[in-house]
Amino acid sequence: MEFDPRTDRLPFNEPAEQAHAGATESSSDARIRHLQRVPLFSGFSEKELRRVAELARIVDVPAGSAVTQIGEPGDSFFVIIDGTVAVRTPVGTGAQLHPGEFFGEMSLLDGEPRSATIVATTDLRLLVVDRSHFWRLLDEIPDLIGRMLTILSRRVRRLEHTVHAILHGTNPT
Ligand code: CMP
Repeated sequence: MEFDPRTDRLPFNEPAEQAHAGATESSSDARIRHLQRVPLFSGFSEKELRRVAELARIVDVPAGSAVTQIGEPGDSFFVIIDGTVAVRTPVGTGAQLHPGEFFGEMSLLDGEPRSATIVATTDLRLLVVDRSHFWRLLDEIPDLIGRMLTILSRRVRRLEHTVHAILHGTNPT
């Protein structure tokens, strides 16, 4: 069963926010501070970042948790703010994803079940965008579409490289 940020009893939003927020900083400002560190959002205006913050939540996830489970339905998109995850696809354990990288977009884009199991290899702080907000986010900040497509193209190339290496018995580096 996939981690569900709406119902699961993981430390959610407020503890992480409060820990960083300080007395004078609102939770929204703290969230924007997190977003400013994410390359996917680099160069975004304060207004755009504020909109991302409105449509997203910050979730803390302990190391070892499965954030997505292959074959299960998925309703959220994730951007890593802190920590690392391992991607387990049907081809095997593939890339590690690091701060600034995203996952979970495929099920939102095509409505199919999760294509991979994503496991937290360290404690994580994630930005979580739910399905309805995901489309609104892309509508309102179309720059995000181009950035995501560029990254998805790179992932396809890397995967093709890996499959080629497996088929030809070479080391997929
Ligand atoms: P989704 O299928 O919604 O859930 C699992 C996620 O793993 C998927 O979206 C992608 O974000 C990510 N993913 C799947 N395959 C790869 C891959 N080869 N490299 C990096 N990330 C992947």
